[in-house]
Amino acid sequence: MILPIYLYGQPVLRKHTELVQKDYPGLKELIANMFETMYKAEGVGLAAPQVGLSLRLLVLDADVMSDDYPECKGFKRAMVNPEMLEMSEEQLAEEEGCLSLPGIHEKVLRAKKIRIKYMDENLEIHEEEAEGFAARVVQHEYEHLEGHVFIDHISAIRRQLDKSKLNNIIKGRMRCSYRTKAI
Ligand code: NI
Repeated sequence: MILPIYLYGQPVLRKHTELVQKDYPGLKELIANMFETMYKAEGVGLAAPQVGLSLRLLVLDADVMSDDYPECKGFKRAMVNPEMLEMSEEQLAEEEGCLSLPGIHEKVLRAKKIRIKYMDENLEIHEEEAEGFAARVVQHEYEHLEGHVFIDHISAIRRQLDKSKLNNIIKGRMRCSYRTKAI
């Protein structure tokens, strides 16, 4: 089932998320719905707050980026209660977008390498390292769980330039190819 994607301005995107309980009803179905919603919107990642749920849960599939970023090959994950263990001091800047901020793209500095621990949809624990664009997607989605969005990283000047676009997103006044929820 395709879920509406909550747009920038919706309070749920600014909330600290809660741990997913092991007996959370319909967790596998929710994860399947999040993947379906993400693919339909042509995104490479989606965090639970973006579908209105204040939970520590994210999905990603960056395989579509693998021509340009080989590290993304087969990088499809559901992460329940992820915990960032390490982030490299070395950073890379690349352009990002977000399904909750349609039409906005900005360069963001992110750690080149990360190590993360999480449970998959079967609640099995994994610990892994990711780098390059794969690490970027994880960091982008992970910060949604902390109540942040990628434009929090950009300068006040850049944000000023995006201001009218941001206001239109808040009011739901933009064209979008997928279902959204604004005011
Ligand atoms: Ni995002």
